Amino acid sequence: MLADLYDLICTIDRTVYITGSISTTVVILIAYLTYKLYMPSDLLADMSSKQWNPRQLDRYSEDELPLPQPFGWFAVFDSWTLKPNEAKPVSLFEHQLIVYRNMSGLVHVLEICENSNSIPDIETRVWQSMEMDNLIMVWYHPNNQKPDWLPFPMKLMVDNTFEYRGKCNLIANCCIQEFPENAADFAHFNTVHLPTEVLGIVKWKGMGAKLWDWITKHVYYKWTPLSYDVYPSPNGHMSIQITSATYHAFGRIFAEFTIDMLQIGPALAHVTTKYTLFGMDFTTILVTTVTPLGPYRNSFCHRLYMKPGFLRRVFAKIFIKTVDIMLSRDVLIWNDKKYLRKPLFTKNENSLVKFRRWYKQFLINDHDD
Ligand SMILES: [Fe+2]
Repeated sequence: MLADLYDLICTIDRTVYITGSISTTVVILIAYLTYKLYMPSDLLADMSSKQWNPRQLDRYSEDELPLPQPFGWFAVFDSWTLKPNEAKPVSLFEHQLIVYRNMSGLVHVLEICENSNSIPDIETRVWQSMEMDNLIMVWYHPNNQKPDWLPFPMKLMVDNTFEYRGKCNLIANCCIQEFPENAADFAHFNTVHLPTEVLGIVKWKGMGAKLWDWITKHVYYKWTPLSYDVYPSPNGHMSIQITSATYHAFGRIFAEFTIDMLQIGPALAHVTTKYTLFGMDFTTILVTTVTPLGPYRNSFCHRLYMKPGFLRRVFAKIFIKTVDIMLSRDVLIWNDKKYLRKPLFTKNENSLVKFRRWYKQFLINDHDD
């Protein structure tokens, strides 16, 4: 009798223990997933080592190097990464800079230059800087000319309560021009960006290739570039590309959206994607920047902003991953691409011709000018 009672207590004990452990695990898991959902997704991929070796530069003749480098406003940091009374070093176009935020919150950017003609032989140069779109921007000009235009903050971010939902930052070995040129290259949308993001970055190998093709036949994006225009003076430093797209799955259209990409100078763009799903507004804003990290090495960053809301936060997670996969497909091509100053354009590449003409305003001393 006593033994039976003892067994019963042991069984209850074990049941309580197991139930307690499962409940604790579930609570921890839910807390973790909630935390992950509420925190922005910051994705970073250094693609610069993929399909790249320094000998790729051998494809350029001596007079083709260095590749064109633009002047303009460049993002160096996210504003929130620099606290008052903090300084950070950064290099931009091989210049070594110190970015400093004083106690009042103002940012200053200094370059420490060696001057062999003076004693002491170190002097500092102040770089013009500004903060907008939660970014610290600096003006770069190889001949130290003053800026003749200023970037402006994203209007929807100023007017509405858009919140930061993460970023996708890809590092690539390519000419800095590749990124803004990508938007004007209409032809690549329905090849590189046609397969659904669910398939990943590169086509599967072996038997997987057939499966990839089968899925792509039934689930895919269809892109319709609508226009590419450059702005007249005094806003000649801006251009805009508008694209509409549909997401198809097994003969049905599941999503329809429009993308406006406003390029402001050579290294900043505001990309607005207008999505409406089940009557709910899922508009996204991407603040995209190109920052040179070294010769033939650039960081391409998309920072995502959306209005608050539980469903929008779930959507943001998927959206930023989609941007990451789609842009990674571009980067793998750029890593292995030779930049041509005077390529042969086909009849359907008017937007690329227009882009190249527009972009030339940011280049000085380019070989073919
Ligand atoms: Fe692309």
